[in-house]
Amino acid sequence: MYNKNMNSYQGKSYNVITYGCQMNVHESEKIRGILSSLGMLETDSAENADVVIFNTCCIREGAEDRAYNNIMALKPIKEKNPNKIIVLCGCMPQQKKGKYNLKEKLPFVDIIIGTHNVNQLAQYLLKFAVTKKQIYDIVDKPTGALDVDNAIRDDNINAYVNIIYGCNKFCTYCIVPYVRGREQSRTPQEIYNEVKNLVQNEGYKFITLLGQNVNSYGKDLKEPTTFAELLTSLCEIEGDFKIKFMTSHPMDFGDDLIKVMKNEPKIAKALHLPVQSGSSKILARMNRHYDLKHYMSIIKKVKHAMPNISLSTDIIVGFPGETEKDFNLTLKLLKKVKFDQVFAFMYSKRSGTPAAEFEDQIDEKEKNIRVNKLLRLQKIIQKDQTKKFFKRTYNCLIRQINGVAVGITDGGKEIYIPNYKFINQNYFADVKIEDIRNHKLSGVVNDKR
Ligand code: 5AD
Ligand code: SF4
Repeated sequence: MYNKNMNSYQGKSYNVITYGCQMNVHESEKIRGILSSLGMLETDSAENADVVIFNTCCIREGAEDRAYNNIMALKPIKEKNPNKIIVLCGCMPQQKKGKYNLKEKLPFVDIIIGTHNVNQLAQYLLKFAVTKKQIYDIVDKPTGALDVDNAIRDDNINAYVNIIYGCNKFCTYCIVPYVRGREQSRTPQEIYNEVKNLVQNEGYKFITLLGQNVNSYGKDLKEPTTFAELLTSLCEIEGDFKIKFMTSHPMDFGDDLIKVMKNEPKIAKALHLPVQSGSSKILARMNRHYDLKHYMSIIKKVKHAMPNISLSTDIIVGFPGETEKDFNLTLKLLKKVKFDQVFAFMYSKRSGTPAAEFEDQIDEKEKNIRVNKLLRLQKIIQKDQTKKFFKRTYNCLIRQINGVAVGITDGGKEIYIPNYKFINQNYFADVKIEDIRNHKLSGVVNDKR
């Protein structure tokens, strides 16, 4: 074992570059905690840093290309300064058959590890300082979670908290189950303590619970529990804060969750519920375990229970076998649901996943045409949606932005509050929208001060 008495990193600088989802963003916060506990100091320049960490993603080919090109850009700098240490970790090296043969292509990268052993980053760094030999270590099973206690968070309003790692769903397009392993829930007590500390000692206003599929939470625990039960217990924590969560899977999204969301004022009225496609035929090929009818029934119930809910979704365009007719069903769905936000992606072949072997792949050009068409439609829908806010009241986080009071809805929409005397702290209050001009909302605060 290498211990901190051998630490040659004290006082050195580091820079962490992150690609991908919130899970990775949060993991990088914990990585910064590890580096800081070695006595290192953060810098915002990869060029100047003594240690550069690339925490990577492989959900789509573009994410891999971006990381790979940025790592390659450091090669001449490393040649000039051989003492610079470069680390590659996360989902990209964890893949069995990634696009790039990293070990061969990146001899100048000093440490290459995956998702399951990044928790031991300090050990790898200490070892490298002694051996000075490239470390390439990808393991199949989790070797422990990253320590949250020292995490250095990016934001001081919203804090991410992991509740479940991994995914058991195996959607046919998705690489995540292969690089993140099977579902593993943290215990309710651990999560409760972390949230309580973030709210009561660190003053966070939003807690975003993270998991590839939060609705599976608790099934794998020794004493099984449900996500709705976890939420109920977290709402008992005293303080002026709200809870968000992502991502939800429509298959496991039960009425118990809708009930808790509706009844608990501490749960943000915002829901990210990826649908992926509006065609039941494509959903079956994606192995999503629900059809359009089921998805629409959830949306109907959610809207009925919480008329002010902000809805967002993910769509994959150009999945193998998607005909013009299937694509039009997706457009129809967008018109019907009127999401507040849509994240649309062109299908990207991920080797090792079943859909990569499907024969009826769609031409890149066609995917491009379809995704642009979809985004244009969604833009019109969103603009048109602004009017739904008129005269409605939203519980908002009141913040001072550039000297002006602004209410931020649970869905992230900003409401300007003219002539409002702000009491220099962030707090929640009801805001009624009185005016909409150029799609900008303004309103009045209904607070009891
Ligand atoms: N190609 C395109 N998009 C994908 N996603 C996951 N895998 C792929 C893929 N192979 C999208 C899904 C998911 C989001 C996080 O990324 O829409 O919900
Ligand atoms: Fe991927 Fe599907 Fe799991 Fe989401 S639910 S991480 S899309 S396999």
